[in-house]
Amino acid sequence: MLSRLVSIILLFISFLHIVIASKPLAALCKTVDKSNSGDQFENNLIQLMFLLAIKAPKIGFEIASVGSGQAKVNGLALCRGDIASEWCLRCLNKAIFHLQSDCQYNKDAIIWFDNCLLRYSNKEFFGEIDHNHTMLMRDKSNVVNPIEFDHKVIELMNKLINKAYISPLLFATGEMEVQRVGRLYGLVQCTKDLSGGECKTCLKSAISQILTCCGGKRGGRVLGGSCNVRYELYQFFDY
Ligand SMILES: *[C@@H]1O[C@H](CO)[C@@H](O)[C@H](O)[C@H]1NC(C)=O
Repeated sequence: MLSRLVSIILLFISFLHIVIASKPLAALCKTVDKSNSGDQFENNLIQLMFLLAIKAPKIGFEIASVGSGQAKVNGLALCRGDIASEWCLRCLNKAIFHLQSDCQYNKDAIIWFDNCLLRYSNKEFFGEIDHNHTMLMRDKSNVVNPIEFDHKVIELMNKLINKAYISPLLFATGEMEVQRVGRLYGLVQCTKDLSGGECKTCLKSAISQILTCCGGKRGGRVLGGSCNVRYELYQFFDY
């Protein structure tokens, strides 16, 4: 009980360190629905956010539900696999701050940062591949040899998928040399409520979108509610 209290106090202190300027990569808050059970839903949502922020940093992942009936809210927090718990907590605090200011009263929302993702819904979604939330991001500049480069991107991503889906974190990073362009760095990750097989399916589907999104571009990401992939021509992760 005491440690819980200390955690909550620490959480509030770290709220003070939030840099308002640090914007999310993207956020989706779909159904603005202020109807029925609004107050109770909001109270449950706030409780859920605190619960996730306290518990998730330990292993970089947590799912939890608060409340019942119409007011029940289900949530998921995921930090990038190479992030220390202190940074995980900071990222989740930012995510909570932005979700509460940008997606107020919403029954379903998701937000992505470089280091974490936070998602909640009044619907149950644990253990299912999310097809409802996807965001694509790409670098503006092109490589000189797009066909060869895209080939390498897919090759690296497939390698990483094969590593990630059998790893306990459902996470993998790696790199590869691409002639005339430089070193290519990649990252793939799934939320840990998925099985290895579902993780693989989710990542395969993300990779299939990466060329549509980012073909020939120096960097790209597919952000989802259950998995995400990213490649860049600079190292953006720690081993
Ligand atoms: C995903 O979207 C569909 C169609 O809008 C909806 O019926 C379904 O409940 C959603 N799933 C989740 C888990 O939110």
